[in-house]
Amino acid sequence: MSHAQGQDSGLFEFRENGKGALYEQLAQSLRRAILDGQFVVGGKLPSSRLLARSLGISRNTVLAAYEVLSAEHLVVARGRKGTRLASHSHVNQSNVLPAIAPPPSRYVARVRKLPPTSLSSLRPQPAFDLHYGEAFADPRLLHSWRRKLSAAALRASPHYPDPCGFLPLRRAICDYLVRRRGISCTEKDVLIVAGTQQAIALIARVTLNEGDVAVIEDPHYQYARQALVAHGAHVIAVRTDDEGLVTSEVAPLDARLVYVTPSHQFPSGVVMSLKRRMELLQIVTQQRGYILEDDYDSEFLYRNGSLPALRTLAPSNRVIYVGTFSKTLFPSLRLGYIVCPTSLRDDLSAAKRLDDLGCPAIEQAALAAFIQSGQFDKHLRNSVEALRPVRDVLVEGLRRHCGDQVEIRGDHSGVHIVAWFKRMRHGHLDRLVQLACERGLGLYSIAPSYQARPPTPGLILGYAGLTAGGATRAMEIFGEAFAALGKDELPLSRPSANKIVA
Ligand SMILES: Cc1ncc(COP(=O)(O)O)c(C=O)c1O
Repeated sequence: MSHAQGQDSGLFEFRENGKGALYEQLAQSLRRAILDGQFVVGGKLPSSRLLARSLGISRNTVLAAYEVLSAEHLVVARGRKGTRLASHSHVNQSNVLPAIAPPPSRYVARVRKLPPTSLSSLRPQPAFDLHYGEAFADPRLLHSWRRKLSAAALRASPHYPDPCGFLPLRRAICDYLVRRRGISCTEKDVLIVAGTQQAIALIARVTLNEGDVAVIEDPHYQYARQALVAHGAHVIAVRTDDEGLVTSEVAPLDARLVYVTPSHQFPSGVVMSLKRRMELLQIVTQQRGYILEDDYDSEFLYRNGSLPALRTLAPSNRVIYVGTFSKTLFPSLRLGYIVCPTSLRDDLSAAKRLDDLGCPAIEQAALAAFIQSGQFDKHLRNSVEALRPVRDVLVEGLRRHCGDQVEIRGDHSGVHIVAWFKRMRHGHLDRLVQLACERGLGLYSIAPSYQARPPTPGLILGYAGLTAGGATRAMEIFGEAFAALGKDELPLSRPSANKIVA
């Protein structure tokens, strides 16, 4: 019997009820099984691979369901050691479980409804991983960074830091922005934050009340959407096309905040046209809203001819520019910055102060010294030179294996590309992902970044974590999986495991 009617996998019974995404239905069945005492308290859940195979569903679906249970504290993820039942998951005691208790606040109620994201720690760790978000690990960088860090540790003050950020770092960022992005600002405009994620949360706090409309792009960065939803905004995803955000659809929404990635739309890779930029500025100015410009990866430019930042078109007071060191250095650093419009400077600084009293002093001092010494610019040049051949191997490999079936986008900059498979169905792509995974290659669908699954299946291929040699091997495995797909019976198309819930 297919699990669509209800299937006992030999491990537990799974009944699809058509309500919600497949991973949510699976999480619901597993939750019931746990609370009914079908698994031993403190014991292991079946491995994701085994359960996926026995139910005939994708492993990512099982992982997404496990992640939901983990967020509810019913299970504990232990990396490669598997997933265990939490020790308090007693039989028929659902009322003592923290996440099953009624949400103590509207914030918690919103957060509990958020779907898992693809930066999950439960993700399989294949030998070759094209997961987006991996850091570019340059041993030269780590060496010089360590030296800057220990020098900064000797000098840094033990007192509370300036909540707006270490002054020499803010100055270094101003200097960098004018040189590389054409943005002129003073150190008073720059607020140091703990990455883009904190920037979005602070900007939401300062510009949005609960229920206010915040526009994001479709497709979009899942963490941006989640931060805005958690804040209580009414988040509306607006279509993008070959020119970026479709501004005519933004105008009627009267948005307080419009979050955009104009330099390299995330994840489609499109550059927002000048016409659309001007239209967006006009709409937001008329409606007295704000644009959050997330300029997350424009440093990695492989061709000439990028457009300057949106902020350069409107230096005044409607564009809140956000930059991060997560791509240029590494994401565990948790440092980024906001270039504040003058009118919001004090309010954003107050929000930052109340949130954490400022970012860690030693890292800020080390970073200031790293930029001032010219090592940051040198590192950026090295990174582009190292990543360009990796990108080339992927692009060439995809074209060789898939010919005119594949359309590649977003390869002019950044650390990921998108491959669209024009003649495939989504079921084919799920199977390709599975075949690659069985051979040690991690591939990831672009669908979870969309509000609803896009008509054409596509992959988002992140390459910051690979060397050119690793990329060559990754493409060999891709070729094997793609060839095996041709011989396989095609599976039925099914809803995306990470379908976004509003
Ligand atoms: C669109 C986008 N913005 C920003 C970031 C970086 O976020 P953070 O600075 O919080 O690490 C990422 C990282 O993956 C991203 O994809």
